Amino acid sequence: MPYDVLLIVAAYLLGSLSTAILTCRLMGLPDPRGVGSGNPGATNVLRAGGKKAAIITLAGDLIKGALPVALTLALGRGQATAALVGFAAFLGHLYPLYFGFKGGKGVATALGAIFGLNPLAGAAVAGTWLGMALVSRISSLSALTAFLCAPAYLYLLAHSTPASLIMAFMSALIFWRHRRNIRNLAAGSEPRIGGKARADS
Ligand code: G3P
Repeated sequence: MPYDVLLIVAAYLLGSLSTAILTCRLMGLPDPRGVGSGNPGATNVLRAGGKKAAIITLAGDLIKGALPVALTLALGRGQATAALVGFAAFLGHLYPLYFGFKGGKGVATALGAIFGLNPLAGAAVAGTWLGMALVSRISSLSALTAFLCAPAYLYLLAHSTPASLIMAFMSALIFWRHRRNIRNLAAGSEPRIGGKARADS
């Protein structure tokens, strides 16, 4: 149990590292919080600085979700504890300790956590994102569709009710963080991938 708490705290601290902000700083690009939607995530880094920085951001955010979950499972803890650890990394991304608790929308970090929990479920979520992105070319719509399905994929493939419930809560938080995108989608004004965006309110 004390180890579980340690893993959860470590995951939160790792999740608090904003790959988007750090990558932009290191590459001499504008701070993503002041560009486009203002979201420190790969989609907005693409607007701020181009493909390379966006790919690094995506990879970093995926890893900070996947690594602590995979480590938890490797230490012999169950799916429920691993899902809680993934949730902690996700919360770190949303409410980062080092960046005034103002973070991103959590899509890539949650995807990393699913990959860590069950690679097949991760592939299903990533495949859903990709399929919707190919059809719509809209990042937020792809993320919302993928995370609507994520708890069910996890339930069907990992057979863990607690992990699926924790994922359902993560999906609900992802929807909450995308409320501006949802309003834009309803109004038909959500930008395509790489297109300009207005700041989240
Ligand atoms: O993963 C974030 C994406 O779904 C939306 O990003 O910057 O267009 O609000 P953005």
